Amino acid sequence: MFGRVDSAGVLRVARSVAITIQENDKISLQPVLKWAGGKRQLLSAILPLVPPDFGLYAEPFLGGGAVLFRLRPERAVISDANAELINLYTVIRQDVDALIDALQCHRNDAAYYYAVRNIDRNADAYKGLTPVERASRTLYLNKHCYNGLYRVNRSGHFNTPFGRYRNPTIAGATELRAVSAYLRDADIDIRIGDYAEVCGTLPAGSFVYLDPPYHPVSGTANFTGYTAGGFGPAEQERLKLVCDDLTRRNIRFLLSNSHDDFILDLYREYYIDIVQARRPVNSAAAGRGVVAEVLVRNYPSA
Ligand SMILES: C[S@@+](CC[C@H](N)C(=O)[O-])C[C@H]1O[C@@H](n2cnc3c(N)ncnc32)[C@H](O)[C@@H]1O
Repeated sequence: MFGRVDSAGVLRVARSVAITIQENDKISLQPVLKWAGGKRQLLSAILPLVPPDFGLYAEPFLGGGAVLFRLRPERAVISDANAELINLYTVIRQDVDALIDALQCHRNDAAYYYAVRNIDRNADAYKGLTPVERASRTLYLNKHCYNGLYRVNRSGHFNTPFGRYRNPTIAGATELRAVSAYLRDADIDIRIGDYAEVCGTLPAGSFVYLDPPYHPVSGTANFTGYTAGGFGPAEQERLKLVCDDLTRRNIRFLLSNSHDDFILDLYREYYIDIVQARRPVNSAAAGRGVVAEVLVRNYPSA
């Protein structure tokens, strides 16, 4: 499909074999997406706070899934409000070879990028895409757009500009197959929708990792525009009520957010750890800086 947008030249996708075998012989999976607010570099702070045992694992703000792919739970519910993201994981699980084939047609040039990006402005063309084509578009845009930012306007149209990277790499075949095998072999329920729906269905004894769009803090480049509606203070307050409900139902939660008086006050009755993360900051000169974030939980540390 996308090869027809402009057929000259082929971007070879491929390559990086990003899996390693750990001492326990489990394959270490890498997130296939670059995701704003991704938790890869906070894993060393998050993992020690994960309860040593739990029933069902839930991650309802999945994004790139850095925590899921590190924990590799055997039973999980994963979800996100972003339908394209969830379509991608569904296709990786069910149709990974077709996805790998579909990725071969993409190219790293601006005209091609904007043609693929703007398909969502044409409702008929967009509806005509197969799930594999949509997944291939999502992976392509993610690695070729500016900063990997999944940003949509009020109409839900993807509007991040072309990234102008010299040699962007889309997840390689080995990496995609490893994620596919995990999603097939483990008992993983993949859903689209609001986090509150997933949280409302969890049984007692579950453990939930909540990584919502952060409350913006001045001076940092916190990004909340993942979905057309955004995630403002009222959304943060709604999430806190869901956390209270989880607590009442004997479900443990660990939540990430920005280090800010509003968030500290909202979660004042819970355990709060302050951690340092390297994040983009607004000052152009600073680029990336060390920013304080919080990890909130409703259970004491082990
Ligand atoms: C900070 S990101 C999660 C990053 C992820 N932990 C990672 O490592 O890449 C927040 C995610 O929440 C999703 N989201 C925003 N509003 C939501 C809602 N109401 N319900 C479920 N997901 C939502 C966004 O689509 C985005 O993927």
